[in-house]
Amino acid sequence: MEKIDLFKWVLCGSVLLFGFSCEYVDGLGVNWGTMATHKLPPKTVVQMLKDNGIQKVKLFDADRSTMSALAGSGIEVMIAIPNGELAAMNSYDRAQEWVKKNVTTYNFTGGVDVKYVAVGNEPFLKSYNGSFLNVTFPALQNIQNALNEAGLGDTVKATVPLNADVYESPEDNPVPSAGKFRTDISEGMTKIVKFMVKNDAPFTVNIYPFLSLYGNKDFPFNYAFFDGATPIVDHGIQYTNVFDANYDTLVSALKAIGYGNMTIVIGEVGWPTEGDINANNGNAYRFYNGLLSRLAANTGTPLRPGYMEMYLFGLIDEDVKSIAPGNFERHWGLFRYDGQPKFAIDLSGRGQNKLLIPAQNVEYQSRKWCMFNPNAKDLSKLADNINYACTYADCTTLGYGSSCNTLDANGNASYAFNVYFQVQNQDPESCNFQGMATVTTQNISQGNCNFTIQLVASSSTSILPSLIALTAILMAYTFLLL
Ligand SMILES: *[C@@H]1O[C@H](CO)[C@@H](O)[C@H](O)[C@H]1NC(C)=O
Ligand SMILES: *[C@@H]1O[C@H](CO)[C@@H](O)[C@H](O)[C@H]1NC(C)=O
Ligand SMILES: *[C@@H]1O[C@H](CO)[C@@H](O)[C@H](O)[C@H]1NC(C)=O
Ligand SMILES: *[C@@H]1O[C@H](CO)[C@@H](O)[C@H](O)[C@H]1NC(C)=O
Ligand SMILES: *[C@@H]1O[C@H](CO)[C@@H](O)[C@H](O)[C@H]1NC(C)=O
Ligand SMILES: *[C@@H]1O[C@H](CO)[C@@H](O)[C@H](O)[C@H]1NC(C)=O
Ligand SMILES: *[C@@H]1O[C@H](CO)[C@@H](O)[C@H](O)[C@H]1NC(C)=O
Ligand SMILES: *[C@@H]1O[C@H](CO)[C@@H](O)[C@H](O)[C@H]1NC(C)=O
Repeated sequence: MEKIDLFKWVLCGSVLLFGFSCEYVDGLGVNWGTMATHKLPPKTVVQMLKDNGIQKVKLFDADRSTMSALAGSGIEVMIAIPNGELAAMNSYDRAQEWVKKNVTTYNFTGGVDVKYVAVGNEPFLKSYNGSFLNVTFPALQNIQNALNEAGLGDTVKATVPLNADVYESPEDNPVPSAGKFRTDISEGMTKIVKFMVKNDAPFTVNIYPFLSLYGNKDFPFNYAFFDGATPIVDHGIQYTNVFDANYDTLVSALKAIGYGNMTIVIGEVGWPTEGDINANNGNAYRFYNGLLSRLAANTGTPLRPGYMEMYLFGLIDEDVKSIAPGNFERHWGLFRYDGQPKFAIDLSGRGQNKLLIPAQNVEYQSRKWCMFNPNAKDLSKLADNINYACTYADCTTLGYGSSCNTLDANGNASYAFNVYFQVQNQDPESCNFQGMATVTTQNISQGNCNFTIQLVASSSTSILPSLIALTAILMAYTFLLL
């Protein structure tokens, strides 16, 4: 026993050098979204996944540079067809081409381990007004049939990541056991479920306790987490958190149509850190800590005890995501925009809280900031200029409940001007704002409010990382020989 542990420790010790994964939660994945003005190079992100022992990743497309970076990594991948492409996939020829170019191409030794194809992303959200109602099921059928025809059907499954609002409990009996699919889509959901079960594909659902809390002033705060809530009882079963209650509502909805045993994958679950009074590192830590320790213990839910496959949302902050749902939308990352971890968390779920391993060799723009010019004479257009900056860059951290909300008026202006300047790659012309802004080399961050410097725009390949890697490999050999 001790010998095995020691062996594991040695492997873990060299995780940085060889990418061995060790003692992480089995089944833990992350969502890797890329809606950012400045993206970390895909290779850097893949290394970050490996360094942190993350073995599964869910994408929102099938971008070629992302896929090449994942090639040979051994990481399991869910690739995706965006909602806007679903209608096109109603043609079987088009679906076949999609499978050929985005799945079959990568099916070679050293290629990409594609495990799932996500057909759409929450296509039945009420806010889409039914736009994707008629195109989703045919797209799902065509993609899975094309996978089957290509001989990949045993290893690659098509699924539709759905928002938790596709099912509900009646208002007069709001308990998990009364779960049913939404009436307006129940016929379509039944067809989808039947087809996926036939092909041994999982039901993929996104569950957000944060949104339950955000959307409802009367929501019992502790019920969003995994500790300390007063239980709600459903036929003798005690529910102490909304995650379990929501998941079991789905189990009941599946049971109601005769598929109570269908495999369920959590496509997205997570907690944001800015953009709302409840979105901060402390609450995110509390949420993840509870979630991950239950995952590690294979607790499951009352109706589905045991193993749970799950993708955290998300990996990195995305500064151009739509903020229609709320300012928090750009702050779901476990890591900041630059691949720096936000808080200490143990992905193994064993409560050994340590910082995640940050992205390596990140290249930033120069140490330059854009600030409000205190000597500016005419301030009549200040509000317009701030507005302009915040239209083209992300000012959500200035809002109520966020880390920059206590800045004074000049601080607000500086924040907005700087974030715009950084998005514009520090172009001197972008730090003018009709004479109200000026460039500085002083770090103008204030207290908890970071005035950040953006990443370099394009990933210019530098020789330095390769040299470092080579040194690391030589060191590793020395280490093993000892
Ligand atoms: C590969 O997948 C992406 C994302 O769905 C899509 O835009 C692209 O058209 C696909 N390529 C082919 C050749 O179908
Ligand atoms: C490629 O696909 C076939 C199924 O057609 C599968 O049996 C095989 O293992 C795959 N090869 C690799 C290297 O992934
Ligand atoms: C859905 O309908 C609402 C109100 O009719 C409208 O404001 C919104 O833009 C529509 N959304 C989409 C995606 O069509
Ligand atoms: C979907 O199909 C139904 C029935 O065929 C039709 O009434 C409805 O207008 C269609 N919806 C859309 C968005 O195309
Ligand atoms: C569901 O799974 C359980 C446990 O594996 C089994 O006992 C039960 O018969 C299954 N039910 C159906 C309907 O397949
Ligand atoms: C700074 O901007 C934020 C967000 O727009 C606003 O809530 C706050 O009142 C502003 N502060 C001052 C002093 O103008
Ligand atoms: C600027 O200062 C803040 C707060 O002290 C610090 O967190 C940040 O790393 C600094 N930025 C740079 C580029 O040095
Ligand atoms: C600001 O940046 C520093 C690292 O430079 C980090 O430790 C700190 O958590 C950041 N604060 C916020 C609110 O993002």
